[in-house]
Amino acid sequence: MKIAILGAGYVGLVSGACFAEFGVQVALVDKDASKIAALREGRIPIYEPGLDKLVADNVRDGRLTFPDTLEDAMEGVEAVFLAVGTPSRRGDGHADLTYVFTAAEQVARAATRPLTLVTKSTVPVGTGRRLIELVRPINPDITVASNPEFLREGAAIGDFMRPDRVVLGTEDNEHGQRALETLRRLYRPLYLIETPIVATSLETAEIIKYAANSFLAMKISFINEVADLCEAAGADVHDVARGIGLDGRIGRKFLHPGPGYGGSCFPKDTLAFARTAVDLGTPLRLVETTIAVNDARKEDMARRVIAAMGGDVRGKRIAVLGLAFKPETDDIRDAPSLVVLPALAAAGASVVAYDPQSMGFARQAYPASTEFAPSAMAALADADAAVLLTEWNEFRALPPDRLKAVMRGDVFCDFRNVYDRKSMIEAGFKYTSIGRP
Ligand code: UDX
Repeated sequence: MKIAILGAGYVGLVSGACFAEFGVQVALVDKDASKIAALREGRIPIYEPGLDKLVADNVRDGRLTFPDTLEDAMEGVEAVFLAVGTPSRRGDGHADLTYVFTAAEQVARAATRPLTLVTKSTVPVGTGRRLIELVRPINPDITVASNPEFLREGAAIGDFMRPDRVVLGTEDNEHGQRALETLRRLYRPLYLIETPIVATSLETAEIIKYAANSFLAMKISFINEVADLCEAAGADVHDVARGIGLDGRIGRKFLHPGPGYGGSCFPKDTLAFARTAVDLGTPLRLVETTIAVNDARKEDMARRVIAAMGGDVRGKRIAVLGLAFKPETDDIRDAPSLVVLPALAAAGASVVAYDPQSMGFARQAYPASTEFAPSAMAALADADAAVLLTEWNEFRALPPDRLKAVMRGDVFCDFRNVYDRKSMIEAGFKYTSIGRP
């Protein structure tokens, strides 16, 4: 079986490498020629554990190729996946579908045989229909399908190979039958591990993706608010999370409190979902509130640091550990650090930051006054306060008394609850964490 994927970004590259690993012949194309050139030389533009090896193995075995043109890539394919970006449109928060429509039109023009055009990019409900209206007049042999991805950065390969479910949205006609048959064949290796397949309409599949991400975001905003309540009441949010999460109807995952969710999906998708709902006359108030709670939370983290330092950080040196929106990624998109660092700098602090992976991006994204340290310990040296924003494993291993010894001050704001409260206090810290007494 042969497929093409348009867009060698995060989703396209991971999906391409994984489909190739399933034994499918995959041609990956991107309008950015330098990206393709780099991939051909074995350089992977993103940091994702295991991806470099998976790409290299499948390139070596000839299952994954990077042709120059879309026409070359589409030679003999049964399906073309769109994995192009759908960023937030400036001004209104809707998903910007320019790349999706441009790519779809190119595929329709280049297709020489019947094929299924599959959206992997996250697209608002109704996009599949619009794609049909766009491509069918150009090429009546094209059918449109929706196959949303649920990959987590840092765990994307495992998530692709062992998904909780595969969602396949297709047209309710002969075209759709053909598409469903093609996609089922593509995912056949997953039948061995009994992965449930949710076969549904285009509209339903599109909503599943947004509803899943919004629900998870809502869970996080919920536990973050409960964490504040726990602090005020002298309770422990981790025990609350465990106590409620053991109820199978609630589930234990995504109840870890922190400085607010970030990343390339939750902020963008919750916003687009809320906007679509308003347009359809059915506002999603819980999603709107989830967004507002999360935005406010990031701002509040900076205020907490300032409060922990007695209300004035002017001239103080503050070490920030972790910039990425979560560990095991170099991604800082919508990370809490993008709000916290500027707020601390604006309040007059001098900020010194360290992150194990995202320092390259970081240099362009933070206030010009930000200093970058080569290690956690170097960042902490002579700092008046420390703020932990990302729970990288290497931070967990730092012994509290060593942390205390290199620092000048004694304020430690642990916004991921990485450290043991008692040990930090024993080491002499004024220790602030999230939702613990
Ligand atoms: C998410 C979804 O999990 C994935 O299914 C979807 O396809 C894309 O968006 P990702 O953004 O890679 O994946 O990261 P995820 O691990 O879900 O974390 C998202 C954010 O939520 C991070 O900022 C993380 O720190 C935060 N989070 C997550 C919490 O604050 N608490 C939790 O309990 C879980």
